Parts: sequence; C-alpha cells; structure tokens
Amino acid sequence: MSKRDFLTLKDYTAEEIRLLIDDAILLKRLRQKGRAVLPFLSGFNVALIFEKPSTRTRASFSVAVYELGGLPITYSAQELQLSRGEPVRDVARVLSRYHHAIAARVFRHSDLEELARFSRVPVINMLSDLYHPLQALADYMTIKEKKGRVDGVRVAFIGDGRDNVFNSLAIAGVKLGARIRVASPKAYEPDPEVLGDDVYSKIEIYEDPAEAVRDVDVVYTDVFVSMGQEKEREERLKAFLPRYQVNSDLLKKVGRDDYIVMHCLPAHRGEEITDDVIESGNSVVFDQAENRLHTSKAVLLYLLNPHWSRSL
Ligand code: CP
Ligand code: NVA
Repeated sequence: MSKRDFLTLKDYTAEEIRLLIDDAILLKRLRQKGRAVLPFLSGFNVALIFEKPSTRTRASFSVAVYELGGLPITYSAQELQLSRGEPVRDVARVLSRYHHAIAARVFRHSDLEELARFSRVPVINMLSDLYHPLQALADYMTIKEKKGRVDGVRVAFIGDGRDNVFNSLAIAGVKLGARIRVASPKAYEPDPEVLGDDVYSKIEIYEDPAEAVRDVDVVYTDVFVSMGQEKEREERLKAFLPRYQVNSDLLKKVGRDDYIVMHCLPAHRGEEITDDVIESGNSVVFDQAENRLHTSKAVLLYLLNPHWSRSL
C-alpha cells in the first residue's frame, strides 16, 4: 500500500499546494461561521513527537486533529525510548501500527526521512533543521489573503539563507510563482543542495538587505539563532547584527507603503526584528500564526481523507 508523506514540499506539485491553500481558506471560513468541528477524521489518532519546544505547531496541530474529530497524542522525545537509544526505524514501525499518521519535530532531517521510510502511515514534518513546510503553507495562505494572489508576488527574506523556514518559503514560493529574494551575509547564503537546483536557480541572492527589499510586497524574517544552534549564538549575532535587522530604517527602503511584514514566530525582538515593526500596521504575524491551524487541517485531510469536501 503506498502512502504519502509531507516532508519538504519538493514532491508536491504547484496544483497540490494551491489546493491545500484553497482548502485551508475554506476551512477557515467554515470555522468562522461556527463550523469548527468537522468530523472528517473521526476514529483517527495522530502521534505528535517533539524533540524541540513548540507553541504554534503543537497547539495548532493538536486543535486541528481534535476539530476534525480525531485524537492527537503528544510525545516529547525525552519520554520515548528514543531518548534511550531505540532506533528511529523501530519507533516508526511500532507507532505506525497504532496511529494513522505520525507528525514529528526533529533536530536532524535525516531522522524524519528514516521515520517516513519505515512508517506504514503518513509522516508529517513539524520542523526539522532543514525544512518547515507546514509554516510555508500558512505563509502563502496569508500572502494570498493579504495580497489577493501569490503568483508574481515579490518576497524578500532577510537573515539566515540556510534557515529552515526560508528553505521551505523558497521551495513553495518558486512552485507558486512568487519571486523570492534573500539577503544574507556571504557565509549564510542559501544551500543549493538543500533547496534543489531548480529552486536555487530561480531565487535572487543579495548581500545588501536594502537592495533586497526594494519594491517588494513581503518582507520576511526569522530568528538568527535557530533551535539547536545555541552554541553558535555569539558568532551568528556578530554576522547578522546590526545590518540584517528588519527595522523601520530598512523598511523605508521598500519605497512603498503596502508591503506586509511576516515572521513565523517566536520572534526575538531587538535581534532580527524590532518591537515597533512587529507591532506596526504592516505586520501580519498573528494572522500568519492563526493560519497554521487551517493549513494543518488541510494537510491532515489531504493525507488521510482527501475526498472530504464532497460530503460537506
Ligand atoms: N512557527 C512555529 O513553528 O512556531 P513554534 O516553534 O512555536 O511551533
Ligand atoms: N528557524 C527557527 C524556526 C522556529 C519556528 C528554528 O528552527 O528555531
């Protein structure tokens, strides 16, 4: 029996990604009309494994499973035998006999690949060191809501060009026809192997953030020190600050007023973004965070009950 995973979005077509976004928009509308609970996953249970902390992903994914009539079961990696050396492949083979899907947030993307290889049921990436595809879906849903389209929208990511959130933003964005720019210090430029040559060849790489933001629709940033990189904190802050901070001076360089500011959150105010920018009228970060709920539902339904909307 073949099953589909959700690991990087590289193996999803533009049509599939558009469908996921449109489904999420529909699910959001239904929820706003009072139809939050739609039991299309009644009788299903989903494992949520966390090797790292999470606020948005854990909350939105748990609520998504619950509102679809299923049962989310959360495991912190320390509570599992994983922490005592049980091989990932054994965990995959055991958990996939109980659960209908396994979602995991991991340090090493290769662990997620192994989980997927040995699991009988779909495996969903809730963030790895390399990718954050659930975030990218919510990001383009938000862009579609705010800008009316994704195709042709200019997005400038300022910061770490090897960041997991950036990688997924670029992979999904290129497929959807967005024009992706990234500004980072030379040592933190995007990795062609992680993005894939087709994506890498279509993004514009800058060193100067002021040049990258000129005339864009979206300015996006993420932390300079991701989970798992704490030991590099000093070196990273030295490389990124003050030049790559998204602040009001940098935003003046956009040269127009109708841009939006995005951040996957959590934000380190005063590092990659300033307090006034995140609180400004251009910031859409909380709508972006809300959309994690609707897009997570769309992914779960696509993998587990793809014909759900026929019986609405
Ligand atoms: N954006 C995001 O994934 O947030 P959490 O780390 O809080 O889940
Ligand atoms: N790049 C960040 C994203 C957190 C949602 C990290 O990996 O810590």
